Order: sequence, then structure tokens, then C-alpha cells
Amino acid sequence: MFSVGIITASDKGAQGQRVDESGKVIQDILSEKGYIVIRYVVLPDDYEQLSREMIYMADTLKANLILTTGGTGFSERDITPEATKSVIEREVPGVAEAIRAYSLAFTPRAMLSRGVCGIRGKTVILNLPGSPKAVKESLEYVMDSIQHGLEILLGKTAECARQ
Ligand code: MTE
Repeated sequence: MFSVGIITASDKGAQGQRVDESGKVIQDILSEKGYIVIRYVVLPDDYEQLSREMIYMADTLKANLILTTGGTGFSERDITPEATKSVIEREVPGVAEAIRAYSLAFTPRAMLSRGVCGIRGKTVILNLPGSPKAVKESLEYVMDSIQHGLEILLGKTAECARQ
């Protein structure tokens, strides 16, 4: 069983002006898959707060996976990918590329998400776009592969046999 920390990046959400549906969608999908949600926070689109929270979840709470939602677009305040890049030690570009490629079938605007994926220690960190719809579409596509990646990262399997 893997542990997951969830961060919703949203100025309005953090001020209580918007209900965070996307964080709830992540919780539902991951719980359904047997993951333990160890922490869930809604933060403003703030570089320092986002990067500090990712470090806390990874280094102190030892989350196996951190999923963020929001703040990946073109708005001046969108800063989640930059905060993530500042804390990861190894990039996993293929996961973010796969999300964008798969999502183009739903909307051409998927190309506007600047989300990244990477590894810090024994923690995988993945940025998802902000809308509940985008979260659902993205997670359903990548979670099996992410889980395989986690098993390898944590030494639970060395096998990469194609399913
Ligand atoms: N990806 C999927 N699968 N489905 C979507 O509806 N919306 C896009 C994109 N990625 C979308 C998607 C849109 S409209 C934007 S602006 C970007 O994600 C960035 O979203 P964010 O700023 O909320 O992170």
C-alpha cells in the first residue's frame, strides 16, 4: 500500500472562495485504488508555500506519492511547475508528456498545461491540471504506470514485464 499527499494550488480555494472539487476527485480515485491519503492541503499559488509543503510531505511524512492539482497554466500566478522543479532531484518527463498527449483527445487546450513530474528521494511528485475533469482524465491514464514506477523506486519489484 502506498501513501499519497495531495496539494491543491488555488488562490480562491485557499481563501475559501471556491470549493476544492479537484482535490476531492484525487482523494476518491486514489482511495479507490488502495492508496492511503496521509495529508491534503489547499494552498495559494505561492512558490514558497508550495515548495515547502512538497518538501514536508516528501522528507518528513515520507509520502510515496505527491499529487498536485492546479497552477499549471499560463496565468501570471500559476507557479506549481516551478515550485515542483525546485524540489525534485530527477525529472520524469515522460509522465507529464503522456498526460498532455492523451489529454489532447479531450481538448486541444491540454497543450497549455505546463505540469511536470519528478522524483525527490523515494517520493514521486506529479502535477495535474486544475479542473476536476482534467484530474480524472489524467489520473485514469497514468496511475497504473505510476504505481509500477513506485514499486521499482521502493524496491518492491525489479520486473518490468509488459502487461
Ligand atoms: N487536460 C485534460 N485532460 N482535460 C482538460 O480539460 N484543461 C486544460 C489543460 N489540461 C484540460 C487539460 C486547460 S483549459 C488548461 S488552461 C490547462 O490544463 C492548465 O490548467 P491549470 O492552470 O488549472 O493547471
